[in-house]
Amino acid sequence: GKVRAPTHIISTISDDRGEEPCYAGVPMSTIVEQGYGVGDVISLLWFKRSLPRYCTQFIEICIMLCADHGPCVSGAHNSIVTARAGKDLVSSLVSGLLTIGPRFGGAIDDAARYFKDAYDRNLTPYEFVEGMKKKGIRVPGIGHRIKSRDNRDKRVQLLQKYAHTHFPSVKYMEYASQVETYTLSKANNLVLNVDGAIGSLFLDLLSGSGMFTKQEIDEIVEIGYLNGLFVLARSIGLIGHTFDQKRLKQPLYRHPWEDVLYTK
Ligand code: ACO
Ligand code: LMR
Repeated sequence: GKVRAPTHIISTISDDRGEEPCYAGVPMSTIVEQGYGVGDVISLLWFKRSLPRYCTQFIEICIMLCADHGPCVSGAHNSIVTARAGKDLVSSLVSGLLTIGPRFGGAIDDAARYFKDAYDRNLTPYEFVEGMKKKGIRVPGIGHRIKSRDNRDKRVQLLQKYAHTHFPSVKYMEYASQVETYTLSKANNLVLNVDGAIGSLFLDLLSGSGMFTKQEIDEIVEIGYLNGLFVLARSIGLIGHTFDQKRLKQPLYRHPWEDVLYTK
């Protein structure tokens, strides 16, 4: 009989051995001829299944909304400084990407984890937020440097509006909004930010679409797929900032002395 040699790698998302590459079993010709979009490709390669149109459109909206937020945020700043140091595209891009983390853009997974845990345990927003405070953990998905009660983040509103219209259930999003109402009673800038909006809404997408088992949802949240949305999206902007600096032939950046407090 046939003896199967042991392999060093197991892969389940794509296959390039045939006449054309397949993503999760879907041939490239189908992807192109049926007019699949980036949201469909993400569904196939990340979630290993085709998702309904309202889900893939939601994914694409997340990508578009998070593609850039101006030159002053951590990621863009790093990419700009790196490009101005004469480094190449990949170096400038990863220098920006490396700032994505718990404070900036990379709070989506933790927001989903904490909102899910609190909602599933029936915690009131008060119990949840005060419990986090006791543990000394800032609520992921809450708070913003420039956005506030009177200057809401339009991106969050757009995501919420889309979900209200297209999602069968928005229970996690509503919970996140109730948490925001409570945190806003404590301070003006403790709004639900774009990470928190995507984190809570993705829980609604996963649980409301009927496309994922409970176990799969737990696995997605545990592994932490969702920061990938911000990483992917913001790469678009970081690449743009790199090209912009090179096009403008900007010289080496040096931070002004006046803007540093030299002290002992
Ligand atoms: N939960 C609870 N309390 C908070 C939170 C929060 N998420 N954020 C701020 N506070 C309170 C705290 O009392 C904080 O005091 P502390 O330093 O003793 O903890 C106080 O507000 C002042 O906080 P600042 O550090 O001045 O707030 P800043 O404007 O620098 O922070 C930030 C903005 C980093 C986004 C913060 O709100 C935070 O850590 N949020 C959680 C992480 C998060 O969601 N990041 C994603 C932001 S959106 C994006 O990057 C695309
Ligand atoms: C972003 O999308 O980069 C932000 O929300 C962070 C910021 O400070 O604007």
